[in-house]
Amino acid sequence: MTKTVTPEPREGNAPVRIAETDAGMLNSIGLANPGRAAFLAEMLPRLAELGLPIWVSVGGFAAEEYADTCRALDGRDDVACIELNLSCPNVDEAPESAADIVASCRRETGLPLYAKLSPAVPDVGALARAVEDAGADGLSLVNTIRGLALDEGLRPVLGSATGGYSGPALKPIALAAVHAAFRATQLPIVGMGGVSTGRDAMELIAVGASAVALGTVLFSDPDAPRRVREELYAELSLLGHASPEEARGVARSAPATPKP
Ligand SMILES: Cc1cc2nc3c(=O)[nH]c(=O)nc-3n(C[C@H](O)[C@H](O)[C@H](O)COP(=O)(O)O)c2cc1C
Repeated sequence: MTKTVTPEPREGNAPVRIAETDAGMLNSIGLANPGRAAFLAEMLPRLAELGLPIWVSVGGFAAEEYADTCRALDGRDDVACIELNLSCPNVDEAPESAADIVASCRRETGLPLYAKLSPAVPDVGALARAVEDAGADGLSLVNTIRGLALDEGLRPVLGSATGGYSGPALKPIALAAVHAAFRATQLPIVGMGGVSTGRDAMELIAVGASAVALGTVLFSDPDAPRRVREELYAELSLLGHASPEEARGVARSAPATPKP
């Protein structure tokens, strides 16, 4: 998964852009990236050398900007999937709805199209259904939610005051969002938010994730992808599941705990 690519290069927000808090991390990177042209000419070919499936995260400030980038990526065999970042809390949002943006992009590409959504909406299930109807092939849940930290002198730590909150505190929020989307749609779901152990990944799969992504944990443990995968398989066999696919959504059908 790449950093989100926007049509024009972006420096991002003024420092300070990262803050640690008791139960998570705040960032206000502000979508710093080299822009679409430099990404396509320089970054993507280098990433392709890794021989891994590459998901490109696409951002913009209007539906047309997202759609233009999707058109530029269409047909490239070095891109496995496009993820539309419809939920960055650190920049202004496009005026169009998430579903309208997905529909505009759908017209421009045959590549798999995932919609990355915010959990900070009144009804994640309804939003998931709307982007499914607009042509999304999958969902990525969740992005960060807006937060703020103060320093000793009661001044905001981040240069932009607020930032996106991620890490352990996000896990229950991610679980609820994936649970709602799984019940509302038929789409595959990349679950993320506060995953740092195989048990965390297992829980996201149990509420309906078909894949799990890691973010904040990579700052403290760059080896986390390998470790979490190993722990996940240990957890699966402990709980008697043959595969992640078999365990997908089991929390949905789990019986309620009987009352004493
Ligand atoms: C430093 C930092 C930069 C991020 N940049 C992006 C981004 O460019 N595009 C995006 O869709 N999400 C971005 N995210 C959000 C993560 O992909 C993820 O949705 C979120 O952090 C929750 O997962 P986590 O708790 O495992 O970090 C960023 C998160 C962090 C911490």
